[in-house]
Amino acid sequence: MTPLQALLLQRIAADGPLGLDDYMAAALGHPEHGYYMSGDPLGRTGDFVTAPEVSQMFGELIGLWCAVVWSSMGRPARVNLVELGPGRGTLMADALRALTQVDGVSAALDVHMVETSPSLTLRQQRNLSLVDVPVHWHQKFSAVPDGPVIVIGNEFLDALPIRQMVKTPAGWAERKVGADGGRLVWVDVPSMAVPAMDAQVGQIVEIALARDAAVGDIATRLVQGGGAALLIDYGHALSAVGDTLQAVKDHKYHDVLTDPGAADLTSHVDFASAARAARAAGAVAHGPVNQGDFLKALGIEARAKVLARGKTPREAGEVLGAMKRLIGPQEMGTLFKVLAVTAPGLPVPAGFGG
Ligand SMILES: C[S@@+](CC[C@H](N)C(=O)[O-])C[C@H]1O[C@@H](n2cnc3c(N)ncnc32)[C@H](O)[C@@H]1O
Repeated sequence: MTPLQALLLQRIAADGPLGLDDYMAAALGHPEHGYYMSGDPLGRTGDFVTAPEVSQMFGELIGLWCAVVWSSMGRPARVNLVELGPGRGTLMADALRALTQVDGVSAALDVHMVETSPSLTLRQQRNLSLVDVPVHWHQKFSAVPDGPVIVIGNEFLDALPIRQMVKTPAGWAERKVGADGGRLVWVDVPSMAVPAMDAQVGQIVEIALARDAAVGDIATRLVQGGGAALLIDYGHALSAVGDTLQAVKDHKYHDVLTDPGAADLTSHVDFASAARAARAAGAVAHGPVNQGDFLKALGIEARAKVLARGKTPREAGEVLGAMKRLIGPQEMGTLFKVLAVTAPGLPVPAGFGG
């Protein structure tokens, strides 16, 4: 039993079943025992590999996307470049290498890393120690100073807590986490709440209030200060019923209620709902488009050729293999989607038909 499981069992004994959102918040963010609070879950030796860890091309192309956005904003003299949930800092390091080649950008940039994990913050600080622009760290997006902003989030939204409702023969129930003889178990607690989508008996509807609120906060910033956001995650383009919650440990699926704090917990992003939250705040939503199409539109195939040039056949094969992993329809190319949110008046961003 993980230390967090023991704490959660005590909490359930005192207060009754926990909402899934509270369970996820504790499993990922408990100050002492949360999954992201210690260690480094990314990479081959961790639990999962993210796109920036697959290849430098991912961050470089996003850096160039940011440069085009900055230009389309009228090249403001100061701009806050924000990354939400930056992991090891790899994406930002690669993005800055490409972005700062563009004339005039370096002098305008302030980088803001929004990260709750102390251990990953240290890792990011090491990774960005040599960059030539000011870098600041915050635990919340609201701490980023006002002004024009470009926001990036890769695999950030999927970590935000969700709730689940299940349709039962007697009506809707909320799927909560209860206890049975020292084990964590699912319990369906009858609820007066009715989700926006109907379902058949036995089906689950997910409610992502925290995620949509985060997108709404980003969109509000864009409307107030100008700029654009790029949100990349695995998910679906249209709202749909179904259970998408998953736990991953050691690169394998894991039971969601076993080992809380020791396995990653995520759910698929409902991009239609996220886009609605952005529009409700007055911003413009573009996409989502498939990650493969987005990266191809930004020129990943040409970049891979340049990187492979002059390399040994083995090294060149690795570059092409990484590209295939990022854009291949059976790999990350279709499952991962990209949503852009812009302030009104900005042109359609690169990769979205612009
Ligand atoms: C799946 S990792 C993605 C890391 C990175 N973006 C990448 O692509 O490699 C999720 C990241 O979000 C951070 N995180 C999780 N919940 C957060 C929150 N509420 N606020 C800020 N960061 C959070 C984690 O510590 C981690 O850095």
